Amino acid sequence: MSNPDSTSSTRSCWPRFATELTDRVVAGSLADMFPILRRCLLVGLVVWLLGQQLHAAKPFTIVVLPDTQCYCDTRVKYAAHKWKNGDLRRYFFKQTEWARDNQERLNIAFLVHEGDIVQTDYPEEWKIAKEAMTKLDGKVPYCLCLGNHDMGFRKTDQSKLSYKSAENRKTHFNRYFPRSKYAKTKEFGGTFDESHDNSWYHFEQAGLKFMIVALEFKPRDEVLAWAGDVVKTHPEHRVIVLTHSYLDSKSKRRTRSGYAVKGNPGEQIWQKLVRKHENIFMVLCGHVIGEARLTSTGDHGNAVHQLLSDYQAMNNGGESWLRYMVFHPDRDKIEVFTYNPALDKFRDQPSSRFDLDYRMSK
Ligand SMILES: [Fe+2]
Repeated sequence: MSNPDSTSSTRSCWPRFATELTDRVVAGSLADMFPILRRCLLVGLVVWLLGQQLHAAKPFTIVVLPDTQCYCDTRVKYAAHKWKNGDLRRYFFKQTEWARDNQERLNIAFLVHEGDIVQTDYPEEWKIAKEAMTKLDGKVPYCLCLGNHDMGFRKTDQSKLSYKSAENRKTHFNRYFPRSKYAKTKEFGGTFDESHDNSWYHFEQAGLKFMIVALEFKPRDEVLAWAGDVVKTHPEHRVIVLTHSYLDSKSKRRTRSGYAVKGNPGEQIWQKLVRKHENIFMVLCGHVIGEARLTSTGDHGNAVHQLLSDYQAMNNGGESWLRYMVFHPDRDKIEVFTYNPALDKFRDQPSSRFDLDYRMSK
């Protein structure tokens, strides 16, 4: 049974303009409606513009996970031997749990892993990495690039702990982080081939479009050419290049990277890809122990911030140290923080806590 008062009670909640407008429509005085309509449109426009401005100004965060290899080290057990503190996987879990649990507070838009995800490309190690990273599923989008330790493992007989990595590009990565799974996410852009070894992802924040291009360790010429095509065909995207080995600890791009796999060191990545594209504004890397940064000018006059972070030599293989970058579109600033979620501590020295200039406002 209908409520006889429903019409009047609903109308009493309407905005005054709407009630007035309805009355006039009912009364048939159409000429009187135009001023009211104009007021409604104006109010709507102001509300929409305010909403757009608030949306545009909202800061957002990108989290950076440097080399996690020591947290997954269950084959040669180098980490357990060095720190005598057993299995360190808890620090990897702490990193991704922290990102997941702070997604809303920091408005975390994306997380990137700088490679050397595992120590020796061993299925048991990949299971740890998968367990850690999938804590983010459905909450924080992410992508990973491959490091030397993620491929081409070969045991050597010099000592119990000695082995070689990146003897070739064979990896178990795709079994645990398959392209087919990530292709279903809205941030997925594409890959170089049918594997997930080289990929690009995208997201939008504050009305700006961003792209992450994740490249293999010592990317081959054909991979750099593919990345260049992707960047060039998306000129409206602001691009971060993610690759494991690029800068050294003295803030120079690496001119040689060693290892048996053939490909390009940092300086060649700069020459063949990064410097050529106006929309690339950042390169992120790990591999070399420590922190470093270098800002260079690309061929189009654009500043490119190149940042190294790798804490694997610190206590307990890094003990969960990570980076996060807070983008402030209205201030054209990126605040870079180095944080340890396990210890709830920040590193405040200039190499760890700094701001970058980056034009985001119109
Ligand atoms: Fe490495």
